[in-house]
Amino acid sequence: MSDAAVDKGRRNWIAITCGAGAVGGVAVAVPFVSSLAPSERAKAAGAPVQADISALKPGEMMTVEWRGKPVWIVRRTEAQLATLKQLEGQLADPFSKRNPGELTPAYARNVPRSIKPEVFVCVGICSHLGCSPTEKFTPGPQPSLPNDWEGGFLCPCHGSTFDMAGRVFKNKPAPDNLEVPRHQYLSDTLLLIGDDGKA
Ligand code: FES
Repeated sequence: MSDAAVDKGRRNWIAITCGAGAVGGVAVAVPFVSSLAPSERAKAAGAPVQADISALKPGEMMTVEWRGKPVWIVRRTEAQLATLKQLEGQLADPFSKRNPGELTPAYARNVPRSIKPEVFVCVGICSHLGCSPTEKFTPGPQPSLPNDWEGGFLCPCHGSTFDMAGRVFKNKPAPDNLEVPRHQYLSDTLLLIGDDGKA
């Protein structure tokens, strides 16, 4: 069975919280990790995790845990992909030039920020203060979003917004795009997160 579980984008990741809450989270995590089985300990320490994306339908998102962080995998629709070019002028770093060594591996330094255009992989942690944004894939006017919203992610902590490639919009608290972790395809439907086979 895969490490992954399809959550349809509805589940909020609560491991990471803003401000003082994050400190308490670290304190209680230590005894938990020490009680894990060896394979679980290896995962928590940073071992790559596999994600079976065979059940992921267009427009859906699933979450896997890697290094204690949520990693999102989104199968974007053609309509969602079409928004990426249009939004370039509204984004702070549309071509993923900031901190590329940390945020965007070479094989994701393209418009969709991905190996396969339709499959987007990113760490679901805001580059401002570490909250986990929520998916806002439905376009159109809605609370906390502009009227011309095309779909993407909203960080509820301080209002940073990201497009469907995790690129942050201009003039938001978050300084950077969401991180694309190293990853590779083991088959058409099996991803390995945390290892891209490169040095
Ligand atoms: S943590 Fe402040 S906007 Fe995301």
